[in-house]
Order: sequence, then C-alpha cells, then structure tokens
Amino acid sequence: MDQLTRETAHILEQNWRNGFTVPTSKLYPFQWNWDAGFTSIGHAYFHLDYALRELQSLFSGQWANGMVPHIIFHSENETTYFPNHDFWAAEVNPGAPGKPKTSGITQPPVHGFVLENLLHKFPDNPAVLAFVKDLFPKVVQSHRFFYIYRDPQREGLCFTYHPWESGRDNSPIWDESLARIVIDYSQLPAYTRQDTKLADAAERPTTAQYDRYVYLLQLGKNNRYDGPGIFAESPLLVQDTLMNAVLIRSNQSLIHIGQRFGWDTGELQEWQQQAISRFREKLWNAELGTFTSYDLRGQHAIPHREIGGLTALFAQIPNTEQATLLNDYLRSLHQRGYYLCPSFDVDSPLFDSRRYWRGPIWSPTNWLVYFGLKNYGFLDTAAIVRADLLELVEKLGFYEYFEPQKRLAQTLTTGYGGNHFSWTAACVRDLLQEGEGARSRKSEVGSGKF
Ligand code: SER
Repeated sequence: MDQLTRETAHILEQNWRNGFTVPTSKLYPFQWNWDAGFTSIGHAYFHLDYALRELQSLFSGQWANGMVPHIIFHSENETTYFPNHDFWAAEVNPGAPGKPKTSGITQPPVHGFVLENLLHKFPDNPAVLAFVKDLFPKVVQSHRFFYIYRDPQREGLCFTYHPWESGRDNSPIWDESLARIVIDYSQLPAYTRQDTKLADAAERPTTAQYDRYVYLLQLGKNNRYDGPGIFAESPLLVQDTLMNAVLIRSNQSLIHIGQRFGWDTGELQEWQQQAISRFREKLWNAELGTFTSYDLRGQHAIPHREIGGLTALFAQIPNTEQATLLNDYLRSLHQRGYYLCPSFDVDSPLFDSRRYWRGPIWSPTNWLVYFGLKNYGFLDTAAIVRADLLELVEKLGFYEYFEPQKRLAQTLTTGYGGNHFSWTAACVRDLLQEGEGARSRKSEVGSGKF
C-alpha cells in the first residue's frame, strides 16, 4: 500500500464508531446521510462489513414516509453539535423512529448508485447480494418520499426547502430565497452555534444564514416535516440541480439492479422518464451554458454557474452539445490556473474561495464530476479532476474542502474546515483505484459504469 492509500485506511478506521462513521470527529459527531454513502464506498476497500453496516445504520433511521434523515444521532449524549436531536424534535412526525433519534430533513439520495457501485465491485459476493436484496426496497421507498412529498405538482422534479438538504449549505444559489426571510427575533428560538468554536468562522456560513436555517427548521417542524404547509409557506422552495441529478442517477442504478435480479422496476422507470425530460427542458440555462436550479417561489431560474449544474453529467442528462459546453468550461478554468472543480462561479462577485460552498473544492463533487465526464468520454478532463483532488490532498491533507486558486493554494499548509475527513478519504481511495486506467477503459464510456 502506498502512503496515500494507507492514510485513507487510517482515517476511515479512526472515524468508525462501531456501526457507523462520523464525517470528522469534532465538527460532525454523528452520522450524515450522503456522507455515509460515499464513506461506504471507501470502507469497501478495507472492510466490506463496515461498508454494509454503514448503510444499514443509516437506514435504521428511515421514517415511515420513506424519508432518510440527513443526520442520525446514534449517540444521544453528545452535546457539541447544533442543532441536536432535541432541537429537531423529530417526534412531531408519528412516522419518525423513536430510536435512533434523527433530524427532520433529508439529503441528496446517493444510496441507489452506492448500492450499484458495491455490486459492481463485488458482483458475486453472497453478503453483498443479500444486503442489496434487503436494502433495495428501502432505497426505492426513499425515492418514493421525494416523488410524493417533494413534487406536489407531479412535474418529475423534486423541491427542497432547506439548504442543509442540498448538501451545499451556504451556496449563493440560496441567497435570494434566504433574503425573503425577515427574522422576528422575538419568535426565533435561542440557539448557540457550535461549529464556529471548532472551525474557522471565515470558512463557515454566516450568522445571518444560520438564523435563516433555524427559521426554516422551525417551519418544517411546524408542519411535522412532511405536511403540505411546507410547499404552501416556505420562502425557500427550489428544484435543485444536484439533488435531482443524484436522484435520477440513483433511479437508474436501481433500475439496473432490479433488471439484474428480475425485480419490478415499473415505478422507477415511470419516475425516470418524466424526471429526465423535465430536467432537460426546465433546468438547462442556454444563456449560461449550464444547468441551473429553479426557484419555485420566485418562479425563475437561479442564474448561477456552480457545481450542481456539472453533476448532471453524472446522471447522463446533457446531450452531447451541452456536455461539450460543460467540459469546455472546466478546461477554461484549468487553463486559467484553478484547481478543478470550484463549487461556485469564480467570476461572480459572490465567489468566496474559502467559505464552505461559495467557492472551495469538495471531494464528493469532484467524484461525481469525474465519473460524469467519463460517461461522455472526456477522459483528459476527468484525469485533471482526479489529479487535482489528489494533489490538494497530498499537499494540504485530508480536509473537508480546499482552496481552488492554485497560486493561493501554494501559500497554504492546510485545507479548510474539518480535518481527517471521512468522505475525502473515501473519494480519494476510490479515485486512486481508477489510476491511469481511467484513460484506457474506453469500453465503459457512456455505459454509466463506475
Ligand atoms: N452541513 C451542516 C452543518 O454544517 C448540516 O448538515 O452542520
């Protein structure tokens, strides 16, 4: 094992908590939804049983309505995170499990494609086969949640009402929606942030944003987290590119899995057909040459070039012309001295290269874009996306996110946010496996394979 591979193994082992993995020990001391998906892919290289138990633990928090919560509070006495399980009060919904305690919102549904990824790596392993059989209906049920509760107009595109759900908490794509919220401080519950005690405040969302995250949490809670009042009342109501692209790719993975085992995929195929065509017609932004999220409350596209638009490649949504534009865009960033892939438009005044999702590079989105580019045969750009992440990690460590400007990154000795980060280790481990073979594996181009 080379040094980098050894480090990925060490981090994943250190963050393992007898049944699940914390993203990083201090800042995020519980289990997170989409983190668990990527982390499972990493564990599979060293401990297949950890990989399977990770997903089992996550789905032990699934609600009766199908929702897989964004945080599972396996340890109830941990007090170093806000908002904790008592602040969420998931019990307002009778379908929330009493144990484990959970949050009340969800996250990008990666688990369909994670299952396919595991199956791709262990096609005949009996433990994996039994596991897939057990988890498949639960993952389908989690997709049903999106189509029933998050697509009331039956468009094929699902909405989110909380930036935490999208995974891209403080991306500028939420700014206009958040600005609609006028906080009445006599109504906002008192709270104390913990994150800024554990990470540099300049690398985290602002207090004004946190007030609005809490406001939207309360709005969800007042509607038992799945009631129709959310669609009727929320000032933030967005059909997000990344969430929908991930859902579409996971639908496709479940269809592949169902077909392999002879399980019914009729419902999945119906969702999929409508979702792909609606995504193509509604979210393509010809002016910007990328896919953009749609503001359902304001009834307009959110006109920003950001990482969510690029993840459409992973779900094979763009046509060749659109994919070429996305590839050209990444090439131009590379030529201008940026590491790939910045999370937000580097030419926007809203770009902030160190503040969480307003500019920095994140490993899971590099992973999605890497395999997305491979889908279309853009192997040279895929190789840059892979090499840039590996270089950043080698130079700066296994951080949560990274500086995208090469010149500035050269002056730094660390990445940003939390260190010894699980999904960074997992994505690096998986991309190491790709190696130089990424260029030669032409047979897989366009097949949607990993
Ligand atoms: N990413 C959020 C946090 O920073 C919650 O999901 O705590």
